[in-house]
Amino acid sequence: MNDAIDASEHLTDWLRNAHAMEQQSEAMLKTMADRLEHYPDLHARTVEHLNETRWQREQLEGCLERLGTSPSTLKDITGKLMAFGESAVAMMSSDEVVKGAMGAYVFEHMEIASYTVLIRAAEAVGDQQTKLVCEQILQQEVAMADWLLQHLPSTTSHFLSRSARPGVKAKN
Ligand SMILES: [Fe+2]
Repeated sequence: MNDAIDASEHLTDWLRNAHAMEQQSEAMLKTMADRLEHYPDLHARTVEHLNETRWQREQLEGCLERLGTSPSTLKDITGKLMAFGESAVAMMSSDEVVKGAMGAYVFEHMEIASYTVLIRAAEAVGDQQTKLVCEQILQQEVAMADWLLQHLPSTTSHFLSRSARPGVKAKN
């Protein structure tokens, strides 16, 4: 009996998960960017990170291709992810800007944890290129998480003041 799984197999698996995660992120950021009207700073940073996220997804696709993963696997994951994006839209509520900023902050931390794991796994198998890609992505995720946290108080204040004024749209 041989139930051992080597590090390179885990690396490929975790890269696929990260790719799926970035597709999910892309769908959520796109929804936020399309809906935000009255929060220009948050809107601009969301668009910026949406572009970074697309770049990240492409980088991960490059890593997977180098490791010999078939495009059909990527396609399978894409189908599942679209469904999640739609459910995220459905969750939008009267305080969606605050919930959205909180959710984005939490999501960034899932990404930070994932790339921290991936960097060590890439080191373990000696895949320098994947390691470098994941280090670059990690920096972008940390920067986005920091920005979101720094701006949560002002986003909250802005929302509360708009919400208290009659006839003023606060939610996005
Ligand atoms: Fe991110």
